[in-house]
Amino acid sequence: MFDCCKKEPDVKEPTKIMTAKVFIVYYSTYGHVRQLALAMKQGIDSVEGVEGVLYQCPETLPKEVLEKMHAPPKPSDPVINIDDLPKADGFAFGTPTRFGGPSAQMKAMWDATGAHWGAGALQCKPFTLFTSTASQNGGQESTMLTMLSNMVHHGMIYVPPGYITPATNFDMTEIHGGSAWGPGCLAGGDGSRQPSEKELAFAKDSGAKLAKITLKLKA
Ligand SMILES: Cc1cc2nc3c(=O)[nH]c(=O)nc-3n(C[C@H](O)[C@H](O)[C@H](O)COP(=O)(O)O)c2cc1C
Repeated sequence: MFDCCKKEPDVKEPTKIMTAKVFIVYYSTYGHVRQLALAMKQGIDSVEGVEGVLYQCPETLPKEVLEKMHAPPKPSDPVINIDDLPKADGFAFGTPTRFGGPSAQMKAMWDATGAHWGAGALQCKPFTLFTSTASQNGGQESTMLTMLSNMVHHGMIYVPPGYITPATNFDMTEIHGGSAWGPGCLAGGDGSRQPSEKELAFAKDSGAKLAKITLKLKA
């Protein structure tokens, strides 16, 4: 029976651990964008109280087309369930460049978010962007600029890296992707170039910045 006179034992206030989840939602045909996604996760996870969770965009191309493109098998990262997007406190979205813009797979995901838009379910959620191109000047900035339109309509908050990693941003000693708009890598015309240390470090820094802002906005 409940005893209203019973003195409650002194309970110490537990240390409050703020936890925030950042969904890293990417599409990658050949794995370059996924490598950047992993570096983003490293940066996000380096901030106490924040966890990065990797998700792939649903594939839209038929198997036969992927085979003709010599696409390797998909990694084991879960495919994003669009209903789950509002569960994230922040996002990092990554896509390879397709003719200077985002991939159709990434766009198809956004085209399925009408219900979230109607409910304002993604309003004020912070996000950052990352990409990969075959060539230098292949359209990294135009890809991110074009992607932005989706998030703007959802009322989300862009967290671009700006010039947080001067060693990458201003480096003229080696070719590299990435800009103030977001990390990026150069895959080469045949996809043989892998993300460099500098490109991965920039993605890591950008993930850490996003994680810190996500925590602040959640507090
Ligand atoms: C249909 C198509 C269009 C592409 N358009 C561009 C482009 O505009 N600029 C560019 O530099 N690379 C372009 N690429 C190359 C991809 O961006 C490159 O394969 C990708 O960055 C590799 O990333 P992933 O390994 O994550 O798939 C294109 C590739 C395909 C298949």
